[in-house]
Amino acid sequence: MKVLITGGAGFIGSHVVEAYCARGHEVVVLDSFVTGRRENVSRGIRVVEMDIRSPCLAEFLASERFDAINHHAALIKVPESFRRPVEYAEVNVVGTLNLLQAAVESNVRTFIFISTCAVYADSGNLPFEETHPLGPSDPYGTSKLAAELYVQMYATQYPSLRCVILRYGNVYGPRQQVYGEGNLVAVCIERLHEGQQPVIFGDGSHTRDYVYVGDVADLNCHVLEQPIQGVYNVGTGQQRSVLDVYAQVARTLGAPYAPIFGPPRREQAHVALSSRRIQQAIGWLPSTTFEQGIVHTAEWYRSQLQNRDATPAEHSLEPATGADDSARLGDHSR
Ligand SMILES: NC(=O)c1ccc[n+]([C@@H]2O[C@H](COP(=O)([O-])OP(=O)(O)OC[C@H]3O[C@@H](n4cnc5c(N)ncnc54)[C@H](O)[C@@H]3O)[C@@H](O)[C@H]2O)c1
Repeated sequence: MKVLITGGAGFIGSHVVEAYCARGHEVVVLDSFVTGRRENVSRGIRVVEMDIRSPCLAEFLASERFDAINHHAALIKVPESFRRPVEYAEVNVVGTLNLLQAAVESNVRTFIFISTCAVYADSGNLPFEETHPLGPSDPYGTSKLAAELYVQMYATQYPSLRCVILRYGNVYGPRQQVYGEGNLVAVCIERLHEGQQPVIFGDGSHTRDYVYVGDVADLNCHVLEQPIQGVYNVGTGQQRSVLDVYAQVARTLGAPYAPIFGPPRREQAHVALSSRRIQQAIGWLPSTTFEQGIVHTAEWYRSQLQNRDATPAEHSLEPATGADDSARLGDHSR
């Protein structure tokens, strides 16, 4: 299949790009590089630098004739979303709508929208099923839920467009940067590698459902290739506290465990996602244990951090700064 992956230069999207290519699909990456990195995308893969809000998007899609769109592009930093809620709505809601409309106009058959556990209300029994009450507690989660509603409306109004919504738990693994929604693992590894201790917001009892990025990429292949539609959670069903994650990373790195506590943040208290629905639909379950995932991730960061220490200007792990909102159309083969 010919597939457009938005956000394919980002953390999760770049793993999906590799998984799709490995299965023989023709992949084109569309990314604005606001947080994505060119080095995340292998040479030989077409990369189009464009904002999903661009008025050129429809023309681009019409000229390419994609079979499917896998939509990972988004702004994802929860604290930042409180400071810039309008920009989060513009990218995550209006950008998604722009993409949906362009998809319909160019006869795309499959639209996979990546959502988040942040759409759920912060209460009730764990693990959350897809029927758990919705009620995001931050502008990021609200923007994702609004985008979901548009995807569902398009699925109803345009039955020829197969729509799938995947609500991820906290994804972790190689290439995750030290910011964002689910970056605790990356923060712990980087701080401990530097001989520092991460600061824990609150008492460290918050829990999240950590799912390894390799398992998530594998799932995206099944979702592309099998004729399912609807809303599906993507998690392990297990909740892990901040202190548990930090302790596991410290054990893996052989680093001291001496948590420093800071003031609490506004965030969901406890999250675990039941993946029973997706398991029943296509037989997918995550296969990487948390311990294995932390080892893979720590190995990758160790190699990156060693490179950075050797050549700081070229290999910095600092997040990219400054949003580039311009609509630039260009084809950059890599
Ligand atoms: N990381 C997690 O734990 C997690 C959890 C739940 C859901 N998600 C979702 O997964 C997706 C990918 O997240 P990630 O962690 O890989 O983040 P990321 O920041 O690494 O990737 C997002 C990508 O989207 C691109 N992008 C942002 N705005 C854009 C725009 N206006 N036009 C074009 N490209 C744009 C960025 O440059 C980047 O490459 C997001 O939709 C996010 O909401 C992530």
